[in-house]
Amino acid sequence: PPCHLVPVPAPSRSEPVPDPSTPQRPQLPESFVWGVSTAAYQVEGAVTEGGRGPSVWDTFTARPGTVRDGHTGAVACDQYHRYPQDVALMKDLGLDAYRFSIAWPRVQPSGKGPANAAGLDFYDRLVDELLAAGIAPTPTLFHWDLPQALEDEGGWLERATAERFAEYAGLVADRLGDRVSRWITLNEPFVHMVFGYALGVHAPGRALMLDALPAAHHQLLGHGLAVAALRERGAAEVLIANNCTPVRVVGDSAADRAAAAAYDALHNGLFNDPLFRGRYPDLSAYGVGPDLGGAVLDGDLEIIAAPLDGLGVNYYNPTWIQAPSDDPALPFAEARVEGYERTAFDWPVVPDGLTELLTGLKERYGAALPPVYITENGCSQPDELVDGRIADTARVGYLDGHIRAVADAVAHGVDVRGYFTWSLLDNFEWAEGFHQRFGLVHVDFETQVRTPKDSYAWYRDLIAAHRDAG
Ligand code: NOJ
Repeated sequence: PPCHLVPVPAPSRSEPVPDPSTPQRPQLPESFVWGVSTAAYQVEGAVTEGGRGPSVWDTFTARPGTVRDGHTGAVACDQYHRYPQDVALMKDLGLDAYRFSIAWPRVQPSGKGPANAAGLDFYDRLVDELLAAGIAPTPTLFHWDLPQALEDEGGWLERATAERFAEYAGLVADRLGDRVSRWITLNEPFVHMVFGYALGVHAPGRALMLDALPAAHHQLLGHGLAVAALRERGAAEVLIANNCTPVRVVGDSAADRAAAAAYDALHNGLFNDPLFRGRYPDLSAYGVGPDLGGAVLDGDLEIIAAPLDGLGVNYYNPTWIQAPSDDPALPFAEARVEGYERTAFDWPVVPDGLTELLTGLKERYGAALPPVYITENGCSQPDELVDGRIADTARVGYLDGHIRAVADAVAHGVDVRGYFTWSLLDNFEWAEGFHQRFGLVHVDFETQVRTPKDSYAWYRDLIAAHRDAG
């Protein structure tokens, strides 16, 4: 429970505070963890170095028409080589933690068998550099870059991939477990299933619609098996990072409400209920039974429901849902709602959606909900470098609003322990290539020059003020 609330003074910077009418400063626990997030394929580059094998994203980006302007993550932010500079930037921010991901194909180039020592060496160096800077390494074990060799055997549609994942988790923990105490198993299994296996707009590019559901179950099973592998090796804290959205009903008919419930079950319930209730939600609106098309075997849900030390929540915006029109392929329709500020991605900016989401999770799961970390939150903006400066006022407003929204949830009794913004750096934004910039730090992808934006200074000052107040 939020034991110790410390008022955070307004940042010393002269950036306009976006909502001056809010007299209340964000109240967050003294031990609150401040972080930033990235993911391997989005920042590392060096895709053929150190014995790394190909991942589904190397294959996918090589296929014409998959990513805007044919961009790939082959170089990305070159963090593989430039990590000392990036850690120095994080140190200057005053971060408590860095959430990065480990590329499975660096550790096991073909997805199975013994560890590739050279691949683990990179993370070993990164972890040491972080610890020397006083920053807690917080690795995610799977952020969508499956070894291509496993995809060739069916990827997450296959149950065996869950077992391979746990073996890989064990190899990583054997090497880093003496210095890493907080682990995240999967990143956004919902988005990976939907974009990667149902719609085909992300790697591995399969468009199976509802036949993609086994990819949800096998990821969750992999998560549960990995929790056991990590615990066996003494992991102190194990989390999963789920993409969650508060679902808002458009219209007030029973059909609209049923559509919203169906969407909520797919996006949120499918990935949270098995963790905290030990069962899948009702997916009958999709014509799917509780065994997700035969994927769920006896004992699986016990494995998946292994107690966690935290739920990582990735929040970007709410989803507005209404009843679908006649003869729908799906039992819901997404609606566009006007009247909100929008990011460069055209996503609506809705900070109170985060409070709604967090209090909703608490209501739904009660005592079964572990402490929450916001493992991602941030926005892409049309940042422009003018005379060496990026005045990203809109991003400052976004962060300010969402951190206040977290404080509101804490005030309502939700145990939120940390906030990781997406992202440290502008990076490879999947199907959008380098077109969507989410960083606190601008990256010139021609020269790899890093330029901290105004939001970087704002976040640094916020963290410092929080600490001073403590
Ligand atoms: C969620 C994903 O985890 C991350 O990889 C992505 O870049 C951000 N959202 C922004 O879309």
